[in-house]
Amino acid sequence: MRKAILEVKSNDKIADKIFKLKLIGTSNKKEFTDFKPGKFIHIKCSDNIHPLLRRPMSICNITDDNEEMTVLYRSEGDGTKLLSEKRSGDSLDILAPLGLEFDYSFIKAGDKVTLVGGGIGVPPLYYLGRKLVEKGAIVKSILGFNSKKDVFYEKEFSELGEVTITTIDGTHGQKGLVTDVLDLEFDTLYSCGPTPMLKALQRDIPKEKNAFMSLEERMGCGIGACLACVCKPAPDYKSESGYVRACTEGPVFKLHDVEL
Ligand code: FES
Repeated sequence: MRKAILEVKSNDKIADKIFKLKLIGTSNKKEFTDFKPGKFIHIKCSDNIHPLLRRPMSICNITDDNEEMTVLYRSEGDGTKLLSEKRSGDSLDILAPLGLEFDYSFIKAGDKVTLVGGGIGVPPLYYLGRKLVEKGAIVKSILGFNSKKDVFYEKEFSELGEVTITTIDGTHGQKGLVTDVLDLEFDTLYSCGPTPMLKALQRDIPKEKNAFMSLEERMGCGIGACLACVCKPAPDYKSESGYVRACTEGPVFKLHDVEL
C-alpha cells in the first residue's frame, strides 16, 4: 500500500449518477503494476478538509501496459459529487492498492466461470473477467440494475462472453433479480453487489460450490485500524478476534465465509 498522486485523464458520466474516471501516474508511469482485480483504492475526493474520509472504490480496469486505471463510481454523496467535478489534468491523492484480490490462480482454460454483479458492484468484475478470458475461461456475466437508466458496461462485458442484464422494473433486459436467471452450471462464481443480492446468492448457491463475493462495506480507514468495516464470520471461518475486517481480510471472501 502506498500513497500516490495521480492525474485525471478523463471523468465522464456514463449512466444515471455513474461516472467513468481514468487515471494515470504522475511520478511512476507504470504505477498500476500491482493493482490486481478485487483490490480497491481509497480516494481523497477534495483538497480541503471536508469531506474528511477517503472514499473506497473498486478497480474497474488496468490497461495491459499498467499505465492507466479506470474507476467507475456513483456520485451520490458530498465526496463523490466533488469527485465528479474533477477535470482532465486535475490531480487526485489515493491510497492503494488495498485489500485482497480475487483468487483466480486455479482457473484453467475451458473452466465455466459466472460473474454476478449488482449496481456499483459491477465494475471490479470487469477487470477480473478480462483476466479470466486471458486464461481461457468461458465467462458468463449476469448484471443486475434497478432500471434502464442505471445500466452500464453491457457492451464491455459482452466482449468477454455471454451477458444477461436484469432490471427490477423490466425496462431493459430481463425483468427481475440476478438470482432469477442464475443457474448452477458453473465451476467458479465471483460476485459483487449490494448485501441483499449477496444474501440471495448465499441462499441459492450450495456451500460445496466454488463461489466468492466481494463486500461493499462502508470503509473508514481502509487499512485495518478503525473497525468501521467489521463483519461477522461464519462459524467455520478461522478468526481469532471473532470478527473480520472487510478492508484487510477482504473485501473478497468465499461466498459462505461471512454472515450477512
Ligand atoms: Fe478501517 Fe476496515 S475500514 S478497519
